[in-house]
Amino acid sequence: MSSHMSLFDTLVAAIRHPWQIHFGAVFGYIWTRVIKLSFLEALHWDKLERTWLAYGVLQAALEAKALGIPAITVVEFGIAGGNGLVLLEHYAEHVEEATGVRVHVVGFDRAEGLPKAVDYRDMPYIWQPGFFRMDVDALRKRLRRAEMILGDVAQTLPEFIAKGNTPPIGFVSFDLDFYSSTMEALRLFEQPVDRLLPRVFCYFDDCIGDDFELHSQFTGELLAISEFNEAHPMRKIAPIYGLSYKRRHPAGWNAMMFVMHGFEHPRYNEHVHPNRDWHLRLRHRDD
Ligand SMILES: C[S@@+](CC[C@H](N)C(=O)[O-])C[C@H]1O[C@@H](n2cnc3c(N)ncnc32)[C@H](O)[C@@H]1O
Repeated sequence: MSSHMSLFDTLVAAIRHPWQIHFGAVFGYIWTRVIKLSFLEALHWDKLERTWLAYGVLQAALEAKALGIPAITVVEFGIAGGNGLVLLEHYAEHVEEATGVRVHVVGFDRAEGLPKAVDYRDMPYIWQPGFFRMDVDALRKRLRRAEMILGDVAQTLPEFIAKGNTPPIGFVSFDLDFYSSTMEALRLFEQPVDRLLPRVFCYFDDCIGDDFELHSQFTGELLAISEFNEAHPMRKIAPIYGLSYKRRHPAGWNAMMFVMHGFEHPRYNEHVHPNRDWHLRLRHRDD
C-alpha cells in the first residue's frame, strides 16, 4: 500500500513551486474532463484510476483470446475497503466488451485487517495488526459480480483451489502487504497448469512504496517472489522488462507489473503474437 500527496498538498506545492508544474499534465487533466475517453483510450493514455488493474485484465484477456480460451479468472489478494475490487469488476466488464473473453472476478481478504507479523520479513516497521479493516456489508452492497472469499488465505486459498470450478487464472493483483501472506497466496501458481494461463499477469503493490517503506528482495513481496522462483524450476515470476518504455506515459506501476511464466504449460510455446508472418526484408539502397 503506497501513500500519495493529498490534492490539497499538491495544490499548495504547485503554488509554492510553480516552475514544477507540468502544464501538459494539467491540460490533460482538464481536457479529459471535457472529452470522454473510451476505456481503451483511457488505458492507453494512463487516465484510469488504477490503470495497472485494467492493463493486467486486458493483457490476460488478449492472451486468452489468442489461444481460443473463452473465459479467465482475475484475482485480488487483499481487498481492505474494496476500492480495488470495485474497479476490477468495472474494468472486467469493459475488457469483456472489448475482447469477447468472459472475466470472472475473485477477491480474498480476512476482513479483520492485517494479522500479527510473523517476523521481520513481514516488515512490522510499516504495517501493524488490524490495519485496513473491511466494512463487509458496505462492500457487498457495492459489488455486482465479484466473488468475495473471506478468511485467512492460508485456509481459503486451498479450498478455492480444491473446488477448481473457475476459468484459468489470467491476472492477479497481490496486495496482502506481508511476506508470509504473499507466500500463502503464491500457492495459486502451484496448481496444475491447466488452471492457469501459460503466462499469468501479476501486479505486486508492495515492491515500491514511500520513503519509509524501503522494499528490498530480503523482505516482503519481493522476498516471496525470490523464494517462489527458487522453489519452482519451471514456473518463474519475472518483471515485464522495459514496460515503461512501451507506455505512452511511463508511471511507477510499470515497475510493479510481473508475469508468472509457466514454462511447463502445454500451450506455453503456442504462437500468439499478432504478427502472424514476420519478415524484415533488406532495404534497397535508395529506400
Ligand atoms: C493494503 S490492504 C489491501 C488494499 C486493497 N487492495 C485496496 O486496493 O484498497 C491489505 C489487505 O490484506 C489483507 N491480508 C493480509 N494478510 C492476509 C491473510 N493472510 N489472509 C487474508 N487477508 C490478508 C488485510 O486484511 C488487508 O485488508
